[in-house]
Amino acid sequence: MPRHFIRIRDLGPDARVLLIRAGEMKKSRFRSDLLHGKILVLLFEKASTRTRLSFEVGIRRLGGGCIFMTPAESQLGRAEPLEDTARVIGRYNDGIVVRTFSEEKVRKLAEYSGIPVINALTDQGHPCQVLSDVFTMYERRPDLDKVKVAWVGDGNNVANSFIEAAMVFGFALSLACPEGYDPDPSLLAEAQAAGAAVTLGRDPKETVAGAHFVNTDVWASMGQESERKAREKAFKGFFVDGALMSSAAPGAFFMHCLPAHRGEEVSAEVFEGQASIVFDQAENRLHTQMAVMERLFTDMHIERNKT
Ligand code: CP
Ligand code: NVA
Repeated sequence: MPRHFIRIRDLGPDARVLLIRAGEMKKSRFRSDLLHGKILVLLFEKASTRTRLSFEVGIRRLGGGCIFMTPAESQLGRAEPLEDTARVIGRYNDGIVVRTFSEEKVRKLAEYSGIPVINALTDQGHPCQVLSDVFTMYERRPDLDKVKVAWVGDGNNVANSFIEAAMVFGFALSLACPEGYDPDPSLLAEAQAAGAAVTLGRDPKETVAGAHFVNTDVWASMGQESERKAREKAFKGFFVDGALMSSAAPGAFFMHCLPAHRGEEVSAEVFEGQASIVFDQAENRLHTQMAVMERLFTDMHIERNKT
């Protein structure tokens, strides 16, 4: 059975090992032939800069090849069922990196393709981003379980993955979201029931107090463009500026998965300031995803050798 990376919790209890491995790969500018002769499909139903580039570069650094595919350029755009597309991809290719709307589609690809599938963003989560974000925090604070992370703004896909990350890596997470824009309530309840230090409030200043990392994201995610006006109204006050950063712990860092809208969720001053580690987060996508691919494909290699 191939292994997949669909949610942060798929990493299991040895998730920290991946952080260590990503660090080694970053330091050594890691190259290998692990994926030699293997070709992964990047199936993207939404726009991307970082995710596409970091996967294409990472796959090549591991010696593999990739094919970028969108619905518009394939029969998916003409209503060929995903189950059929998945089975075809599985006959030619060795892995799938998918960016789409529902996690259900990612699971369907995993079920029908028979090859490892990596979730490169859905409306419900963005595990690759948040793994990179956790690694970026870990570089500064290896004692992750003593760290407080604040999330200000939309309880969106990235926020959901942060809740899972708080469960897996043991950091405290406080979210401030406007009413009506909360993260997945069942995930939040599950995290709290499992004893994770995850709280949800409405006041950004209270939420950020004492935080070591202050995180935000756009007010309207991909696919929510028609809600932009309503969201602009709802999110007034849910932005990160110098005043809000000064409520955080001394030396706190500012984080954003990018792309960012200066003057909306973050001020230009904070975005460009000393505390901002947004481009480290972007760089670390490459290293953490290489560590994920190494894990998925090394395990598969062992399984194939066994049979
Ligand atoms: N952060 C992120 O996933 O960026 P892209 O949409 O550019 O891939
Ligand atoms: N929440 C954003 C993240 C983009 C990387 C979106 O889904 O558009």
